[in-house]
Order: sequence, then structure tokens, then C-alpha cells
Amino acid sequence: MQLLDGNKIAATIKQGIVDGVNALREEHGITPGLAVIIVGEDPASKVYVGRKHKACEETGVYSEVIKLPAETTEEELLSTLDCLNQNDKINGILVQLPLPKHINTERILDQIRPDKDVDGFHPLNVGNLGIGREGLVPCTPNGVIKMLEISGISLEGKRAVVIGRSNIVGKPMANLLLSRNATVNICHSRTKDLAAVCREADILVAAIGKPNFVTPDMVKPGAIVIDVGINRVDNKLVGDVDFGSVKEVAGAITPVPGGVGPLTIVMLLFNTLKATKLQLGLPESC
Ligand code: GUN
Repeated sequence: MQLLDGNKIAATIKQGIVDGVNALREEHGITPGLAVIIVGEDPASKVYVGRKHKACEETGVYSEVIKLPAETTEEELLSTLDCLNQNDKINGILVQLPLPKHINTERILDQIRPDKDVDGFHPLNVGNLGIGREGLVPCTPNGVIKMLEISGISLEGKRAVVIGRSNIVGKPMANLLLSRNATVNICHSRTKDLAAVCREADILVAAIGKPNFVTPDMVKPGAIVIDVGINRVDNKLVGDVDFGSVKEVAGAITPVPGGVGPLTIVMLLFNTLKATKLQLGLPESC
């Protein structure tokens, strides 16, 4: 069994980003900038936003964290986004989710300039991914793809099963796997005989937010098991996969924490660098 070490893989990608940021500064006098907006006091969101800010500092990306009170109105948030859309120092914009219930999340995400949408949640970027034009792609599923690539796991012709159909992970994950020529199924809460579908998978991605949901009877011996879940149980982080028992069956597996999580943050920086180049009209390789 191969343990897929997210921290190690993220460090490799991060070095590439540091090099890219330095090159952009030296050759074009530009520092990529990321703005993260957080509305309210959700404790998990605060932790995630803090990590994003720290990762910017570590890679030389300019970072602005905009903290707004929970009672911020939709109109106020929309006008904050208008300012950031026009701010030349800011190349990437992320609105931390979930937003307070009185705010219409769709309306907010639609307001982000698509070429600054480092989350890849704007309908234009979602549509582009659906037709195989990968521009700004959601960070977590893109991180899973990078992890598989760097670990030398090929997707061509493989059976891939994604558990979960969220817009943040499940659906973009399925599209990315499909565009790499995997044969893809998406399972969800209404799927009949979910365990049997999962047992077909050479690559099984769990993204349903249910602690320890995936058990060994759902895993083909030797399968690659990717756990996107972050669940808090008794103040401990656990994934969607019952790691202790599934690792005995899997060919490779990601731990929680230390698996997909570190990739998500690094892919946000990757997208910020990519967005900056898009805005400057530079090819991605520069
Ligand atoms: N909250 C949990 N995951 C995410 C994410 O990928 N992006 C944003 N903006 N908020 C999140």
C-alpha cells in the first residue's frame, strides 16, 4: 500500500509557484495578488482563511484578507466585489463559503470577474471545464489530479467513481477525470447499491462529508482511494474513508489530515499565478 503524502506533494508544487512568482516579478515587475473575503465568524472558515494568507506570504503572493461582519448585506458584499474586480493589485478573488444564510451565494459568485475567479465557481469557468477548456479550475479536485499525476498514477481507461455531486468537488472532479480519459461514475445519496458501484473503481474519490463512510467492502483490492472529506468527530479530524481498515485493501490511499487538504491551498496559489498570467496575456509556461 502506497501512502499518498499530501504535504510532500504540496511542497513540490509550492516550489514551482515560488519560482513562477519570482520570474513574474523579475521579468514583468508584477506581484500576483489574492483577496480573500470572509463574512462572519465561522471558526472553520477562519482557520482556512488564515492558512490561505500564510501560504501567500510563504510564496511571495500579495494577500488581502477582507473580514466583514455577519450582518453584511448582499449589496455591500456585491460592491466590495466590484472594487476588487477593478483593483489592479488583485489578480485573484475568493469568497470563503459558506456565507450567512441571508446572502444569496449564487448571486455573489456570479459577480466575481471570471478571470479573477480563483475558486473556479463562476458559471463561465464551470462551463469551460464542462467542455474541456480548463481555465480556472476548482482547487480541491485540481489538487487531486495533480497528486495523481505527480504520484505516477495514470487515469487513461481506468474506472473512476466519485462519491458526492457537489459543485465544489464532485462535479468538477468527475469532469477532470473524464477529460483525462477515465470512465467516470458519480454516486450520491440516491444511488442504488452504492457499494457495488464503488467496488468497480480503480480510482475511488470520496467527497460526501460523512465520517468513515467508505469501508473495505466498498473498495476493489488494489484501488487508489482519495479521501476529500474533512469531518470533525470528538474534536478530531476524520475523512470520509475509514482509513484504518481501508488501507489494508487499497493499493494507495490519502490520509486525513495530510492528504488532499494541503493540495487545496497550494492549488489556490497555482490559480492565482495562472489568473495573473491570463490577465497579462502571458502563456501559462512563462
Ligand atoms: N469552503 C470550503 N471549501 C471551499 C472552497 O474550496 N472555496 C471557498 N471559497 N470556500 C470553501
